[in-house]
Amino acid sequence: MSKPIHHSLTLKLALIFALLAFVLMATLGVALYRELERELIMRDDAALISRVDQLRNLLNDSNTLDLIKTKPELFQNMLGNRESILSIATPGQTPLLLVNPTGIDLPSVQPVRKGHILSLSDVQHLPGVNGVPFAIVAASIDSGDLGSLQVTSGRLMTERTAVLANYRLSVYLLAGVAAVVLALAGYLLVHRGLLPLRRLARHAQGIGVSNLTERLDSDRAPKELLPMIDAFNTMLERLGKGFTQLSQVSTDMAHELRTPINNLLGETQVALQQDRSPEAYQHLLASNVEELERLARMLDNMLFLARTDPASALSQRQALSAADELERIADYFEGPAGDADMRIQAQGEGVIWAEPILLRRALANLCANAIKYGAPDSELLLEAVATAEGTHLTVTNRGDTIAAEHLPRLFERFYRVDQSRERSAHSNGLGLSIVATIMQLHNGHYSVSSDEGVTRFALFFPARGV
Ligand SMILES: Nc1ncnc2c1ncn2[C@@H]1O[C@H](COP(=O)(O)OP(=O)(O)O)[C@@H](O)[C@H]1O
Ligand SMILES: [Mg+2]
Repeated sequence: MSKPIHHSLTLKLALIFALLAFVLMATLGVALYRELERELIMRDDAALISRVDQLRNLLNDSNTLDLIKTKPELFQNMLGNRESILSIATPGQTPLLLVNPTGIDLPSVQPVRKGHILSLSDVQHLPGVNGVPFAIVAASIDSGDLGSLQVTSGRLMTERTAVLANYRLSVYLLAGVAAVVLALAGYLLVHRGLLPLRRLARHAQGIGVSNLTERLDSDRAPKELLPMIDAFNTMLERLGKGFTQLSQVSTDMAHELRTPINNLLGETQVALQQDRSPEAYQHLLASNVEELERLARMLDNMLFLARTDPASALSQRQALSAADELERIADYFEGPAGDADMRIQAQGEGVIWAEPILLRRALANLCANAIKYGAPDSELLLEAVATAEGTHLTVTNRGDTIAAEHLPRLFERFYRVDQSRERSAHSNGLGLSIVATIMQLHNGHYSVSSDEGVTRFALFFPARGV
């Protein structure tokens, strides 16, 4: 099995920061670069045009032409730099003047007509030499006696190319620096931002069974973490409750098991101290069996409570006829009720939305109690009343009134009104807690009332879809 790969959020965000910074800076730089390039080209072109314009004006003067012929070196220096080219020629003849210090091949360019005002669009841009662009403009002039002349001026844009190259380098350097700075800043920020999370993790790590009541501290936590802290604390709350319940159950169970086991042990030890008659052994074994049966029943009940799976219980609910179910229970308990001199009666109808086995178990527990604790020669009444919300079932018997202080605790595990019944093989105080669990599984209610010798247990099963 391969180990899952955990990406570092901090690293990821830092890299994203870096990338964004680089892209942003580079985009901005390229946009500015384009603008600068356009501007520089325009200026260079304008300079070329103005030179040609000047020459056009000068050459209209025949003195200038004489000067060119006699002192061409004056013009050699006029251009001021070695990248500029100037040619003044009658078309088809050797130029009157050619300044071309670097010896660039002069391409033939269509000259702008006489009298036509030169504009930026008249400048032609050529690939030039070694990637350095070459701009050129040519114009025709009429210089009287010499006839038609063509002035051509061009320039190799070395300086501009260098400036732009420098600029480009700066842009990428700056974008790179920005990326590094933002990556570092992002890393530190995220690292710092996650500090509360690490603090919480440390705190959570320290929470165990011994300090389940502790809660994560939301005081200094950022707002974004509050839902997580809340959820975690609620989870701790639930775990705490469950854990208390569980330890309560095991304490109760140990407590409940102690008495019968001590009794078994004591009686058996005493019996073993000297020889006994077979009758005495028989008596002891019979008594032990009774105690062991009680223990077995108790364990069955505990297992029932532990095993019942809420989800499957809920999904196995069915619409059951209340009349049928009460009838069935009444039939089943007719014998035991008769033994206790009680009459059992079922009445009412409706539909019970319940898991059948659990429903029968709940009713059986109530009936067993009613027979166990009811007065002889009395009636045990099972009744169903249907409403729109669900069905109410009641189990009513006559007998000793249960004192009010016991009523709220009857459904607790191992709770018995008369603790002296503890030793009875038929009482373990789990019957009603099973009823309570079953009703909770069905999202129903349960209650008990006891007044003037009438004890009534009521169950409510909500209707389907309620
Ligand atoms: N119908 C009843 N009349 C009087 N007391 C009852 C009745 N049902 C239950 N009780 C009281 O509630 C206690 C708990 O009942 P239950 O949980 O069924 O345990 P158990 O029946 O094993 O004692 C009983 O010990 C008894 O004191
Ligand atoms: Mg009982």
